[in-house]
Amino acid sequence: MVPANNSMEEFLLTLRIAYFSGKGHPEKVATALARILDAELVRIEPLRESGIPGKLLKTLFFLKSAIKPCPTDLTGIDGLIIAIPVWAAKVPPYVNEYLAEVSGGDGWGGRKVRLRP
Ligand SMILES: Cc1cc2nc3c(=O)[nH]c(=O)nc-3n(C[C@H](O)[C@H](O)[C@H](O)COP(=O)(O)O)c2cc1C
Repeated sequence: MVPANNSMEEFLLTLRIAYFSGKGHPEKVATALARILDAELVRIEPLRESGIPGKLLKTLFFLKSAIKPCPTDLTGIDGLIIAIPVWAAKVPPYVNEYLAEVSGGDGWGGRKVRLRP
């Protein structure tokens, strides 16, 4: 694909992939994607583990659950990709917490971005 203005600059994106993975499934996907996209990899880790009933209850009620400190500031990041397991057809509470902590996102900064067809 040839950029419209012949500049490669518009395709140099700084990407971050944040993932939560209990037994390593989304982790595999996130790691492979990070290698392909040359993206920064961030692991979302629970501060403490609860049992399945507690996990499901929090998930069902769209609650958050504390996580260990990890990069959440998007300053200098052009795109954030989230890789997670489905829990009760919803988002795990640790990921709800991560998303609540995300800051510094200001859109695409006016940069033109085209996806490959
Ligand atoms: C508490 C819990 C709830 C789940 N709920 C669903 C669900 O609603 N739908 C689904 O397809 N898979 C569900 N799964 C299966 C996981 O999404 C799937 O096994 C995923 O690959 C787990 O990856 P991980 O073990 O690396 O976190 C659930 C798993 C757990 C532990």
